[in-house]
Amino acid sequence: MPTHILRLILLVVGFIILAIAAAIYLTPESFYEFGHYRADSVGEIAADTPQFQGPDYCEACHEEQHTDWTAGVHTVVKCEVCHGAAREHPADGGKLPIPDDTVKLCTLCHEKMPARPAAQPQIVVSEHAGEEQCVTCHDPHSPALGGDQAGEESDPAAACAGCHGDEGRGTGDFPSLAGKDADYLAMQLRNYRSGARENAMMNTIAESLSDADIVGFAAFYAALEGGAGQ
Ligand code: HEC
Ligand code: HEC
Ligand code: HEC
Ligand code: HEC
Ligand code: HEC
Repeated sequence: MPTHILRLILLVVGFIILAIAAAIYLTPESFYEFGHYRADSVGEIAADTPQFQGPDYCEACHEEQHTDWTAGVHTVVKCEVCHGAAREHPADGGKLPIPDDTVKLCTLCHEKMPARPAAQPQIVVSEHAGEEQCVTCHDPHSPALGGDQAGEESDPAAACAGCHGDEGRGTGDFPSLAGKDADYLAMQLRNYRSGARENAMMNTIAESLSDADIVGFAAFYAALEGGAGQ
């Protein structure tokens, strides 16, 4: 046999021995138990700690936020979309972050874009809120204003209560409305709506009020017992 053929045969035999040795010694233990993959990997993946726990997990400890969220329109936006993956919170001792820049967070989904489906509520942020944080007017857990949410139909003033207090008696820097003259209140609301009286918050809010809304709110607050504020 010519030497160059012999060399070729030896090379092929050597390669076959190497391949068989590799198949015997380098194949992971559980390979091909179920198919062309490592059976142990199934158990390893299943044993991973979940990163996201889902909203039901939060209910036991943050009942107030969970209740607001369940009643509102934001049930499509799960807690961890805004607060990040819970992982082992609170067992790992960490608090989940509270988003501090809501303009950045909320505009991710609500900034007006031509390509965005009309079913998703959209606003032109610069006209709608300016530099104002969205949580000044919207509860992130139940953001719709105007009492169109479950449980709020009976209280048209729920949208105002965040600033003017439950009984319209004012909170912090927000003036009391309770017990003030109905005509006076209606006139102020019309002035905010037309822009004759300027206040970034009230101008935005009054823009969406109809004449009937204005008369309704004025009568509602005029009938409440007067507050201690201005
Ligand atoms: C077993 C109870 C428990 C569960 C379940 C739980 N939390 Fe918490 N959470 C806590 C505790 C305790 C704190 C710390 C409160 C503090 O120190 O004021 C906290 C703090 C937070 C904070 C920061 C609040 C603050 O005032 O700084 C956020 C946000 C939060 N949790 C969101 C969530 C979300 C979202 C979920 C569900 C994915 C969740 N938590 C599930 C107990 C829990
Ligand atoms: C759309 C985003 C968003 C979603 C969804 C959301 N949060 Fe929040 N959450 C916020 C923001 C923003 C704040 C800060 C509120 C503020 O500054 O007034 C906050 C505050 C909190 C706080 C601190 C206490 C407080 O009320 O200020 C807790 C606790 C909390 N959220 C839990 C939850 C839980 C539980 C869920 C789900 C049931 C949830 N959040 C869903 C945005 C969200
Ligand atoms: C992940 C996307 C997402 C984020 C982030 C988000 N939203 Fe929403 N939001 C939605 C969707 C979707 C709806 C419509 C829900 C529906 O109608 O079923 C909605 C509804 C609303 C509505 C109700 C509109 C109406 O009157 O019908 C308001 C107001 C609102 N969001 C404000 C906010 C604010 C404020 C924040 C930040 C704290 C925020 N959203 C963050 C997706 C998001
Ligand atoms: C000064 C108060 C104020 C601030 C700040 C504010 N909003 Fe609003 N927002 C309102 C009022 C009032 C309405 C209801 C008026 C309406 O339906 O047109 C509303 C309605 C909405 C709607 C529903 C629009 C629709 O077409 O149904 C969305 C979405 C929204 N706001 C998102 C935001 C986001 C995101 C931010 C922060 C960038 C924000 N808002 C800041 C007062 C405010
Ligand atoms: C985001 C906070 C906020 C919300 C929500 C809000 N207001 Fe106001 N409101 C203010 C502030 C701040 C002033 C004071 C503005 C000024 O100095 O002109 C004010 C002033 C008023 C005044 C004038 C009071 C006076 O004595 O002259 C009336 C009336 C009023 N608001 C009615 C309403 C009604 C009705 C709603 C609900 C539809 C509402 N407000 C919701 C913040 C708010």
